[in-house]
Amino acid sequence: MSPTTAFRTAIVPAAGLGTRFLPTTKSVPKELLPVVDTPAIELVAAEAAEAGAERLVIVTSPEKSSVAGHFQSRPDLEQTLADRGKTALLEKVRRAPGLLQAEVAIQEQALGLGHAVACARPNLTEADDAVAVLLPDDLVLPTGALTAMARVRERFGGSVLCAFDIPREQISAYGVFDVDPTDTDDVLRVKGMVEKPAPEAAPSTFAAAGRYLLDRAVFDALDRITPGAGGELQLTDAVALLIEEGHPVHVVVHRGGRHDLGNPGGFLRAAVDFALENPEYGPELREWLSQRLSDAAR
Ligand code: UTP
Repeated sequence: MSPTTAFRTAIVPAAGLGTRFLPTTKSVPKELLPVVDTPAIELVAAEAAEAGAERLVIVTSPEKSSVAGHFQSRPDLEQTLADRGKTALLEKVRRAPGLLQAEVAIQEQALGLGHAVACARPNLTEADDAVAVLLPDDLVLPTGALTAMARVRERFGGSVLCAFDIPREQISAYGVFDVDPTDTDDVLRVKGMVEKPAPEAAPSTFAAAGRYLLDRAVFDALDRITPGAGGELQLTDAVALLIEEGHPVHVVVHRGGRHDLGNPGGFLRAAVDFALENPEYGPELREWLSQRLSDAAR
């Protein structure tokens, strides 16, 4: 799918406390933890760039300035690598700053995802009728979901979210959409959302993923919501308010894979999955893993 013109700015909220990754996140932002050798936030920035984004607004906290540092160039390091003829490494070092124009918005306190997105509002230009929001701890595979979402916005207007079809018995871990069909498979109109419902009470099996294409109207909605679950300003509450007020909201059901990098178990799976596909590390890891698993089975 070719890139879209539906949005130019991608917001990546990265100011959370990362409590599920303590003690590492005392001093290392979870968004910089490497999936093989590349920080998750770079993978997500590449996804945004591929979908047509030109600007990346990284929302960070004052303690997490190294997250933005990853998108700045390092002429000293580049020179050293160039002098040593390490061209492959040089390319890796230059990739993040070259993907898109990165800017920072500061969230002083982790008051919730909705609050984090609202912190990016001063960075928007008049041309930003819509923005993409990508959660850096959610890898949606293969890439392309945002482009499909942009097509849906071009057709229906409003905001477009991304959903996965989850087995009903696992649904209570997710935010779940209440939907009506449209004339297109895997594009649904959203009537509401329920957080972590019991399987029998879930209005569907379509669970929210960390990709949003939000009409600019969301920022006014964010101003009008009050703290919800966990005392935090929730992005989904702002979307719910938009739905209530008649603003069109649709979901695209993404038929693919996903890694939740927000907890160590999910992160390890992602690392193994990516490493197995890596030509440098994959073959040896596969051999070691098979041996390890057969030893464990004995
Ligand atoms: P998460 O809830 O997964 O991240 O938020 P967290 O709060 O850092 O992690 P735990 O629950 O304490 O382990 C999804 C994304 O939103 C960002 C996080 O950095 C993460 O990338 N976020 C969350 C903010 O930027 N600000 C917030 O106030 C909350």
